[in-house]
Amino acid sequence: MFSPSLLKKFQGIETPFYYYDTKLLSDTLKAARKAAEKQDIELHYALKANANKGVLKLVKDSGFGADCVSGNEVKRAFESGFKAGKIVFAGVGKSDKEIRFAVQKNIFCFNAESIEELKVVNEIAKGENRTAQVALRINPNVNANTHRYITTGLEENKFGINSWELDESLNVLRKCKNIKLIGLHFHIGSQITDLSVYKTLCVKANELLQWFADKDIFIENINLGGGLGVDYHHPDEDPIPDFENYFGLFRKFLKPGSHIKMHLEPGRAIVAQCGSLISRVLFVKKGMQTNFVILDAGMTELLRPALYQSYHTIENLLGATRKGKYLYDVTGPICESSDCFRKAVELTETRRGDIIAIRTAGAYSESMSLDYNMRSRAKAYFTEDV
Ligand code: LLP
Repeated sequence: MFSPSLLKKFQGIETPFYYYDTKLLSDTLKAARKAAEKQDIELHYALKANANKGVLKLVKDSGFGADCVSGNEVKRAFESGFKAGKIVFAGVGKSDKEIRFAVQKNIFCFNAESIEELKVVNEIAKGENRTAQVALRINPNVNANTHRYITTGLEENKFGINSWELDESLNVLRKCKNIKLIGLHFHIGSQITDLSVYKTLCVKANELLQWFADKDIFIENINLGGGLGVDYHHPDEDPIPDFENYFGLFRKFLKPGSHIKMHLEPGRAIVAQCGSLISRVLFVKKGMQTNFVILDAGMTELLRPALYQSYHTIENLLGATRKGKYLYDVTGPICESSDCFRKAVELTETRRGDIIAIRTAGAYSESMSLDYNMRSRAKAYFTEDV
């Protein structure tokens, strides 16, 4: 990913910064789009993974819709040119202001996560003299076999309407004249690598579609969320996920009538591999048991290791040809011991000033960045910008 000429350019840029490989992102989008068209699936890109304007422009131009979880994400989607009819809005705690904005903008669908939310969307839509389209986000109680912080489809999680609340949801929908049920929505978790969980989800969704059909309610849209995992250990091996296989699973196991439109909301799988966090070594410091490589990037630019103990491949771009391998704890400069990218990282001899790439940082890195310790936000560069 990093040619000698690119590395040379990196040396002239203030670190830390995010680097996005434009070609890889475009190729990933193309592959996703092609596979989705083949299976007749509509894709809504999850902005939370990366809402950088340059990223969104490419995503939008590739024909994706937008999956948003805040009023500001809905706003960003509009600013980036996504059409109202392609914007969905999920989130367990939408504020009245956010709902009103999305109602006024006439977005495609609110993925409603509670009975109370249905009533509030109805009230607000009534006040605006409109009818809002809603999907019920149902908690299917399916284990996604991923980190517990990014598991969302179990009954113990705060997300979605539980199956025992469906009768009451239908009663509310019958009474509320300013909302219209257009679909069902699910999202069971993120960084899913055990794809068998999607089969379990489809079986659950089939049962639910039948439950609605038995009541003469024919659902028009089914949205199975996002969650496809990527390979953090081998970012260069197959950088474009196997979308054909992934989308094919839904077509194989979901048995909707031909009148139902299928939607998915990938985030990470689209953007993760095209991004790297580029930083410089500030100091190499001897510890009791280990040597610390202290970078000018920290948990403020990439929170995932501190929050989920997640693995990211770390490479010394300048020291690549040096002889000998050493183990280092690679940390950031933040005043927290959790500000550690990884312990015992094998690198060639590493020195002050070396340029380090933390790979697979295109998803949930820039979008989760913080200004803790009064840090300045890191800039982002695409291939054509450096
Ligand atoms: N749809 C909904 C309703 C979601 O909540 C999410 C992610 C997605 C789609 C997209 O999921 P993806 O395809 O990106 O897995 N910060 C965590 C990930 C949190 C994901 C939250 N929801 C991380 O860095 O791993």
